[in-house]
Amino acid sequence: MSEVVWEPLREAATAALASAYVPYSKFPVGAAARLADGSIVTGCNVENASYGLTLCAECTMIGAARMNGGGLITHFYCVDGTGGILMPCGRCRQILFEFSTAETLLMTSSGAKTMDEVLPDAFGPRDLDRIAAGTDDRTDAP
Ligand code: THU
Repeated sequence: MSEVVWEPLREAATAALASAYVPYSKFPVGAAARLADGSIVTGCNVENASYGLTLCAECTMIGAARMNGGGLITHFYCVDGTGGILMPCGRCRQILFEFSTAETLLMTSSGAKTMDEVLPDAFGPRDLDRIAAGTDDRTDAP
């Protein structure tokens, strides 16, 4: 089962490398996710002359996911220019978290990991809901 899920994602992420726009870093990144409906979406990094405005592969992938009906991520795979597994940067872990569940798996160099393992105690939509609902039960709440 595992290979059946991960191999198409690895191939899709690797294929996405060809679309990367990386004149500055020369470091192409390809990302692919399987969504809850079984579809696969991909993304590549798109750099900018104003370096800080670079879009990571995960960002363009999430945009593609939204443009193709959206849905939650079940599995995620990211590769560098050699095809090796690449861990998403901190900002992208947060971006992926928005569309993840407790079951979402990310492929890492040490095997599949949950979102909670790569972004523990994450801030997310539920924090906004909790405050809006007045159900904040933290003892240090102001
Ligand atoms: N990059 C990504 O696309 N995703 C990541 O998670 C890490 C970094 C890109 C940004 C930049 O274009 C290049 O890799 C080098 O940092």
